[in-house]
Amino acid sequence: MTKAIIILGSSRGKGETWHAIHEVIGNQSSIPLIDLNDLSISPYDYEHSNQNDDYIPLIEKLVAYDLIVLATPVYWYTMSAQMKIFIDRLSDLLEIRKDLGRKLRGKKIFILASFSTSLPKGFEDAFSQTCDYMGMEYLGCSFIYRGMDPALLETKANQIALAKNVMV
Ligand SMILES: Cc1cc2nc3c(=O)[nH]c(=O)nc-3n(C[C@H](O)[C@H](O)[C@H](O)COP(=O)(O)O)c2cc1C
Repeated sequence: MTKAIIILGSSRGKGETWHAIHEVIGNQSSIPLIDLNDLSISPYDYEHSNQNDDYIPLIEKLVAYDLIVLATPVYWYTMSAQMKIFIDRLSDLLEIRKDLGRKLRGKKIFILASFSTSLPKGFEDAFSQTCDYMGMEYLGCSFIYRGMDPALLETKANQIALAKNVMV
């Protein structure tokens, strides 16, 4: 059985993205969820003066899982700042912790994005190309609509089913 973990990167812990996650996994799920807001992870630093923050311990935890689900709201057509910092810090794993970077090879990555206005163009490119570069397997993205537009609400069932198929 696939061992999955969810990383939530939003400007609020129990906001729409959190609800979108639970629309997929339900309320009784045993899939662990890590909220990046609970950790101290600072932006990428060329000097690596932040190497003792919570990023490396987080990655050490993640390498025990086969599937890493990155859950982010769409903010201005792209991922949240919290998620971007998480992605930027992958550079640490190519520079000062190559051993750990190698352990990410072959991991499956799925994206869960919540949005409320319109589907962003090119949103997946940064994730899929990052996976290619890191030797991880990109499984795709579910865009979970959290607004009230009837036309977009019609997309929800399919998007939730897509995510369930990968995660549950
Ligand atoms: C700063 C900001 C930028 C946003 N930009 C977009 C956008 O480009 N496209 C969109 O559909 N929704 C956009 N939204 C709406 C959020 O994607 C949506 O409400 C999301 O479900 C919020 O999740 P959260 O509660 O976890 O932040 C934006 C919201 C914020 C706060």
